[in-house]
Amino acid sequence: MPKGSPLPKHVAIIMDGNGRWAKSRGLPRVMGHQAGIQSVRTAVETAREMGIQVLTLYAFSIENWKRSRLEVATLMNLLDEYLSKELPTLLKNQVGLSVIGRIEGLPAKIQRHLKEVIAKTRPGAKMILNLALNYGGRAEILDAVRAIGEEVAGGTLNAGAIDETVISRHLYTRGLPDPDLLIRTSGELRVSNFLLWQISYTELYITPTLWPDFKREHFVDALLEFQRRERRFGAEGT
Ligand code: FPP
Repeated sequence: MPKGSPLPKHVAIIMDGNGRWAKSRGLPRVMGHQAGIQSVRTAVETAREMGIQVLTLYAFSIENWKRSRLEVATLMNLLDEYLSKELPTLLKNQVGLSVIGRIEGLPAKIQRHLKEVIAKTRPGAKMILNLALNYGGRAEILDAVRAIGEEVAGGTLNAGAIDETVISRHLYTRGLPDPDLLIRTSGELRVSNFLLWQISYTELYITPTLWPDFKREHFVDALLEFQRRERRFGAEGT
């Protein structure tokens, strides 16, 4: 890593291309997701090693329920398996689990498992692995607006006092910094309803590499590219 330029504190990843990876090998789509798990492990390990504070992974969107029953079941099983298998590694590496999304819409078994792993891994964590599950950016903003509306109706919040900080505090990501870098694999030039409020000033990095092929060196390349960017947050350049 070049010295001097800061690394991102928060990296978010849209892990795309599992289906295409499988198709290109003549394999069923679900095998692409299975292969994608190894890239999840590598990304978590690399982020921790690089001293990144928060890694958010888009693991299951609200729209993903439209996929076949087999694919949805496979993704849920892979998540369950990941939580069981990775727990010792997360503890060893001091990685704490966190989740964003409509968690109450996930199968009860998964919800229990997530709660258990969060409770075990969060104390003393040096990095947050934040999984977006049953997540949608518009749904997140909608849920925040409803919660704010209830506070206003209940008299605990003055409508005139609603500002950007109040909105941020009602999002699922409350307490986390906004992402500095958003990586999307497999070349699609879309945001796909991910962290809509939080990515206002986020640097975008889109790579043609499919998620199952996204390894340590690809992650490091994205971080190096981030370090070369000049972030101005709307101010004039030098
Ligand atoms: C997009 O590929 C990927 C997903 C919808 C799911 C990502 C899930 C995993 C990598 C595994 C579960 C994650 C964890 C954290 C345990 P796609 O199927 O849309 O690919 P395509 O665009 O090529 O069809």
